[in-house]
Amino acid sequence: MTAAEPRLGPATMVETFSYETLYSEKSVDTALNPGLHAKYDFATAYPAPETLPLDGLIQSLQAAVDSNSTKVLAELAYYPHQLGALELREYTAQKLEADRGFTVTADEIALTNGSGEALALVIQALTNPGDVVLTEEFVYMGTTAQLRRFGADIRGVAMDEGGIIPEELEEQIVALTAAGDRPKYLYTIPEHQNPMGSTLSGERRRAILEIAHRHNMPILEDDCYVDLRYKGDVQPAFRALDDSGIVVYVASFSKLLAPGLRLGYFTASPELMRRALGFKIGSGPNQFAAVAIEGYLRNNLESHRDNFNPMLQAKCDSMTAALEEHFGDSGATWSAPEGGCYVWLTMPEGSDISSIRDKVFDQGVGYVAGVAFEADGSGRTGHNCARLCFAFESVEKNAEGIALLAQLFKQHGAM
Ligand SMILES: Cc1ncc(COP(=O)(O)O)c(C=O)c1O
Repeated sequence: MTAAEPRLGPATMVETFSYETLYSEKSVDTALNPGLHAKYDFATAYPAPETLPLDGLIQSLQAAVDSNSTKVLAELAYYPHQLGALELREYTAQKLEADRGFTVTADEIALTNGSGEALALVIQALTNPGDVVLTEEFVYMGTTAQLRRFGADIRGVAMDEGGIIPEELEEQIVALTAAGDRPKYLYTIPEHQNPMGSTLSGERRRAILEIAHRHNMPILEDDCYVDLRYKGDVQPAFRALDDSGIVVYVASFSKLLAPGLRLGYFTASPELMRRALGFKIGSGPNQFAAVAIEGYLRNNLESHRDNFNPMLQAKCDSMTAALEEHFGDSGATWSAPEGGCYVWLTMPEGSDISSIRDKVFDQGVGYVAGVAFEADGSGRTGHNCARLCFAFESVEKNAEGIALLAQLFKQHGAM
């Protein structure tokens, strides 16, 4: 258009088009995450960039191109298979057999855009609005957000430092069923739970499986943190203890390698998998990332874990030592995780560290208040608790940040 040409329809043009009357009934004006980081960032939910094997991932990608560029090119030139890159699915099947003790074929694994997508697909395939879904009483808010979005009525199951208490679970199922609210399924993070850091013993897992069968209630097992163990023994996956299809298994490469790769996966009984994948938007996930991950982990999984986990332990130790030093006399308690990313801090009953969170953030320390993880979202509990991620900051910053946190809690009357 030249300057002399008249603009189209000048009389009806507006400067800012309004969608006011056009939004769908279900659309919600949702705030974007501002992506802010405090100086001492204990609010983040992933390990630090220094643990990310960037060179290794690039070299693996390059090696794949060097050994068969035609194949890599062809893989990139087409939309990925709905299940995702075959080589990474084959590798994942081998890893599951070696690390988690159960056998599935590559075609029984679907790679997803992070494990968050896997969870969303399974949730959609299993949840009608109003369905009661059980989870740990404090649990990863990414999953509770998805559950709520699809109308689940989420109820928390009582836990102790060993995770869900099987007897409490069964009592709750019986009571809910008697009240006409039979739970549809159980979502659990059995290994290094987010946010509480607990791991369910093999014995509890067996007991929970028996309960699940008795009440015809599938288990959605989220094994997102299983590779991040620096002490104690890994416990058998629910899926390894049960081959009947009652367990849906979800895991991720986000915490082991990098969340920015956006690759996770799930495996479930065939019809459930097909139904879950029916909710997928678009094709399988990023092929470039899949090639890099497959090549890197096939050759470096052990050395990466051997390097990565001692670093996590040093970070956890420095945070818990600082908690001992600065919170030891306060009546606070904290979890002693054997892996994962989180320490769960519990201040004495009545202390409110939820309402001062933003002020403490502005003064340099980030954490997520416990109430954000409350399963039923009632806002009644967790105000005296916080999830502290020990994996992101350095050993030194963990110690400094906890000292500052104690000072700020005192300043704001929370300690
Ligand atoms: C327990 C748990 N599950 C799933 C996810 C989602 O991770 P991603 O989608 O990056 O695999 C997270 C992320 O923090 C998590 O903590």
